[in-house]
Amino acid sequence: MSGDHFLPSRARASAAQPVQLTIQDVAFGGQGVGRTSGKAIFVPYVIDGETVSARVVREHKKFQEAELETVVASSPHRVKPRCPYFGRCGGCVYQHIEYDYQLALKWRQVKETLRRIGKLENAPMRPFIPSPLDYGYRNRITVHVEDGVIGFFRRESNTLLDIEQCPIASTEVNAQLAQLRATHPHNGHYTLRAHDGPRIFVQVNDAVAASMLDLVERTAASADLLIDGYCGAGFFAKRLRSRFRKVIGIDWDQHAIAVAQSDAQPNEEYIGGNIETELPRLLQENEKSPVVILDPPAAGLTDWIRHALRVHPPAQLIYISCNSGTLARDLAAIGKIFRCDSVTPLDMFPQTAEIEVIVELSPRQSGTR
Ligand SMILES: C[S@@+](CC[C@H](N)C(=O)[O-])C[C@H]1O[C@@H](n2cnc3c(N)ncnc32)[C@H](O)[C@@H]1O
Repeated sequence: MSGDHFLPSRARASAAQPVQLTIQDVAFGGQGVGRTSGKAIFVPYVIDGETVSARVVREHKKFQEAELETVVASSPHRVKPRCPYFGRCGGCVYQHIEYDYQLALKWRQVKETLRRIGKLENAPMRPFIPSPLDYGYRNRITVHVEDGVIGFFRRESNTLLDIEQCPIASTEVNAQLAQLRATHPHNGHYTLRAHDGPRIFVQVNDAVAASMLDLVERTAASADLLIDGYCGAGFFAKRLRSRFRKVIGIDWDQHAIAVAQSDAQPNEEYIGGNIETELPRLLQENEKSPVVILDPPAAGLTDWIRHALRVHPPAQLIYISCNSGTLARDLAAIGKIFRCDSVTPLDMFPQTAEIEVIVELSPRQSGTR
């Protein structure tokens, strides 16, 4: 079977001679890795084990970047992408891979990133929690409008690709996209949502968000106090509030904090402020070690937060990450103080390179206070 049904036009236009190579692995981010003349070569839209013909488009000192020309010997895991924009749109990178194998690849990527950057020689990996829907799962998308073009950014570009339908978005979201198109909108950014509600952060895949809550609930240890750092509208705090004498959420989004406060029980407190000042203060003030949940944006934790965790380690730290690279960096930085008890990847974003990970950590010496 040939895999050339969605080859990007940029690849075909290139003048360089194609090279033939065998793909050894698919790296974090979705690029396949092979070697030619001893140099690593990165090729998108391939699968490990495949022999492909690729055209080098960028030379670097230690590696090359190439575009796929043809799949010479295809993987048994190769499938036909469902989306007509795949290969041109900057969103999905794995639609050519059957879903179970996407999970196997992502699982290996997390383990390898934690080994290489996180200095965890043998991370205690748990099985992947899959998404029940591998398409049609996104409860929101943001589309951009420029001079009548309505869609997403093209791959590796800041020009827009006109999109009629997005197969990873839910039916409701696609209906909203059709409605938006019918109104001939002005230039700008439009977030289309399956659910009504305040304009605050919400997890994009409802079913996986529910699995995530279940897992955090099962994982959380017992303590007097739970601190939900980067709490948004109290996603984790609300689920766990009956298990703790007190729960405190911190987020600098005042709208999210107002939503969290709107149905708060007497034992819930929400602080609208910067975690950089609030978390170190709370860790220092509280004599009994709390359970701390941290769900930071992709940039991960700052040096200051990592320092606060080392100086006043909580009884348990549950780190929810949407970026394995920054997660690994943070785990390396707190690794002398915290033991990593489990690593569970969740597939919040099928077909894309993104991976959500929940890591459970406990202080190496309990009662360090
Ligand atoms: C990945 S979201 C998590 C939200 C929430 N845990 C949930 O699941 O709905 C990250 C949150 O961190 C907040 N945030 C980012 N940087 C922050 C900071 N320095 N201080 C406080 N909140 C911050 C954002 O406002 C956002 O709500």
